[in-house]
Amino acid sequence: MGSPITATIRVVAARGTRVAVMAGVYTRGHGRSNRLATRTHGRSNRLATRTHGRSNRLATRTHGRSNRLATRTHGRRQRLRADGWFPGPARTLYSRLQLGGTGARRGVEIQKILIMTGGGDAPGLNAVIRAAVKRAITGYDWQVIGSIEAFNGVLDDPMRLIPLDLDSVRGLLMRGGTVLGTSNAGGPFEFPVRHPDGSIEAVDRSDELIRRLHRIGVDAVISIGGDGSQRISQALFEKGLPIVGVPKTIDNDLDSTEMTFGFQTAVATATDAIDKLHTTAESHDRVMILEVMGRDAGWIALCSGIAGGADTILIPEIPFEVDNVAMHIKRRRKEGNHFAIVVVAEGAFPRGGTALTVKERKPGQPNPILGGVGAWLGGELEARGFHQTRVCVLGHLQRGGIPSAMDRLLATRYGVAVVDLIAEGKFGYMVALKSDEIVAIPIKDAISRYRTVELDHNMTRTARGLGICFGD
Ligand code: F6P
Repeated sequence: MGSPITATIRVVAARGTRVAVMAGVYTRGHGRSNRLATRTHGRSNRLATRTHGRSNRLATRTHGRSNRLATRTHGRRQRLRADGWFPGPARTLYSRLQLGGTGARRGVEIQKILIMTGGGDAPGLNAVIRAAVKRAITGYDWQVIGSIEAFNGVLDDPMRLIPLDLDSVRGLLMRGGTVLGTSNAGGPFEFPVRHPDGSIEAVDRSDELIRRLHRIGVDAVISIGGDGSQRISQALFEKGLPIVGVPKTIDNDLDSTEMTFGFQTAVATATDAIDKLHTTAESHDRVMILEVMGRDAGWIALCSGIAGGADTILIPEIPFEVDNVAMHIKRRRKEGNHFAIVVVAEGAFPRGGTALTVKERKPGQPNPILGGVGAWLGGELEARGFHQTRVCVLGHLQRGGIPSAMDRLLATRYGVAVVDLIAEGKFGYMVALKSDEIVAIPIKDAISRYRTVELDHNMTRTARGLGICFGD
């Protein structure tokens, strides 16, 4: 089988299990190389059948035969590229592509695509991978490889790549996390490099990344990630990399799409937690505070708060006053409700204050780690006479577990559509949900601002209509 990938590449069969493979694992799927590959394959198969059960010597000859054809196939591809598809150094490698444009990449047939997952994990990542692989192979006969831990797999020596075929994505639909692994530290533009003295420096390896992708014959990249990952996608696209995006984040804060996948599962998890906290709150006449994720946007707090029947919802978009929260709980008590449920987003803060952090940002890390607002609020409420206040931090439980049916659906729709984007040559675009249709939007629009909770959004008005307190 033909292979543009050198023998030094290691393939990771499953995360953590490295298997060294020979050159020849990856086959081109199209055009000239495909014809040769098919002949090679047919030839080898015939020989292999004949040799099966006989001597190893024949098997070796069979193998040698395939390799000779593969080399010729590979040589052909290299010549085509040298003819001008990917001329020059990294910056101009993919310069013949229609940047941001529509329509097919003139003269370039897609043969191999790479999938990577970046940023925090979210339920549905594996469902996107599965759908994209199925669409790419059954719809277009492309080869698909995955990069382990975002782009680290391409930047590491040896590279950590995984071939993604139909077998490898079987059973992924309902699996949480990502089989490709992910990272929300660094990225090619701020790659953390540790010096001998222990200090960490962020180094720009983006040109090297593009060169490496070219070297392994990647024709297009699918970046599945949230705001941080899509910023990287846009910057790589501006350097000429043919890249398309899929919007992921449990926070649902990516602009230009009505929904990111992972969000609905996180809301279901938080709602389930509120249901359970109700039991203790009612039984002990307590104030139960649930701190949920939501750095810049309070969608998880707002939606789970409404779905779970919270009394107070505190979000980053609406700075709160503790006294207002305390007054609201007292009023409830007077009305005969002796318990209260407060849902607070990790990024929420009191008027005039800022969000609390538990860890500062390190070089190569996009943000400090938020947390602690629930405990702080609990202390403030106790100081105002609510002695039976308890705090629960839901944390990464919101990102874990199996994706909900709705997230599986959305992830699957995105996975199929993003492969079609590549076929259409719509690089620099991201799939998005608009009025229940999957559409393509420029990645630069999606990252131009956060999609935060608007004060006149129907969800906000619904909460206020129920008498839910925002602390304002
Ligand atoms: O962006 C998604 C998110 O879940 C945020 O809500 C949260 O602040 C952050 O990731 C936590 O990231 P980490 O996994 O690094 O703790």
